[in-house]
Amino acid sequence: MNILVSGGLGYIGSHTCVALLEAGHSVIIVDNLSNSKKETAEKIINITNKQVIFYEVDLTDDKAVSMIFDNHKIDGVIHFAALKAVGESIKKPIEYYYNNLVSTMVLVKYCLKYNVNKFVFSSSATVYGENRVPFNELMELFPTTNPYGETKVMSERILKDVAQANPMFSVSILRYFNPVGAHESGLIGESPNGIPNNLMPYITQVAKGKLKKLKVFGDNYPTVDGTGVRDFIHVVDLAEGHVAALNNLKKGVHIYNLGTGKGTSVLELINAFEEANGIKIPYEVVDRRPGDIAECYADVTKAYQELGWRASRDIFRMCKDAWNFEKNNSLDY
Ligand code: NAD
Ligand code: WQD
Repeated sequence: MNILVSGGLGYIGSHTCVALLEAGHSVIIVDNLSNSKKETAEKIINITNKQVIFYEVDLTDDKAVSMIFDNHKIDGVIHFAALKAVGESIKKPIEYYYNNLVSTMVLVKYCLKYNVNKFVFSSSATVYGENRVPFNELMELFPTTNPYGETKVMSERILKDVAQANPMFSVSILRYFNPVGAHESGLIGESPNGIPNNLMPYITQVAKGKLKKLKVFGDNYPTVDGTGVRDFIHVVDLAEGHVAALNNLKKGVHIYNLGTGKGTSVLELINAFEEANGIKIPYEVVDRRPGDIAECYADVTKAYQELGWRASRDIFRMCKDAWNFEKNNSLDY
């Protein structure tokens, strides 16, 4: 199939392009480079030995998106493009609502116009808010604590309404847990701008000596060792989950958790990283980070039963591949 991948040069999008190409699909990447680099397209080509088409286009640009649908016979869309920094979204709500919602609406509008009925959407475990773990897809959603999370809740709602009005439309909403790690080649991975907000890129930058010490946000949660517990998933497993979702699309809207189903605490992740890579990670415990929940992990039964997919890479592999990418990439990657 010809798959339009929005945000395809970003962290999860680039790994998914590799998985799609390896599964025999063609990809048309649309990305405005607001959080990625053009060279990533070359890296995808290097890894797979296959060509990709790349448009440097902002998805809120209606005319430019229309032209892409005019130029290509598109069979399906995987929509990754979004702004994703939780803290920044609280400071810049309009940028987040505008970018994330308008992008989704423009893409869906042209899917309907050009009879593209296959649509896979990047949602997030953040929509579960303070539900009880493990989170399952039938749970009622709690309000999230930030505009970023709300854009995911609202986008899910938009897609449900569109599918209701257009019975041929098939949508898979994928709720990701905590993607970490990188492609085994070390060519593509996560390279956040500035000081990382997320745990794994912070750890790899401490390991590299770019940052001095990790701050552990709280050790008095009601968890195994008092630190936060998350469902870390290897980004390559996540990428493969998209191929499975695309291959198993059904009419209407279907929601799947993509996680491992296993919780790992912050201290357990630090220990796993040290063991996997033989590097000490200095840390200090500081206050809780506002908005954090104690535990977040998935019930992954539905994805396995309906998509035949489950994550296979363990926490050590995640730590090894995250470090392999960090150490192979210079500061300006
Ligand atoms: P990323 O920032 O690495 O990738 C997003 C890509 O979209 C970037 O390349 C960016 O340049 C592009 N983009 C943003 N707005 C655009 C626009 N208007 N037009 C064109 N391109 C645009 O992020 P990621 O981690 O790969 O996340 C991908 C998706 O998964 C996002 O929707 C994100 O909200 C969701 N998600 C991510 C995580 C995570 O922890 N990384 C967890 C859950 C959900
Ligand atoms: C994980 C754990 C922190 C950094 C975020 C978004 C979520 C989703 C995935 C997009 C927590 C602790 C972290 C640090 C720490 N993204 N931590 N020191 O918050 O689970 O999820 O990314 O949809 O919406 O909120 O991920 O990696 O930031 O934190 O102790 O320097 O690590 O408190 O317990 P989070 P994270």
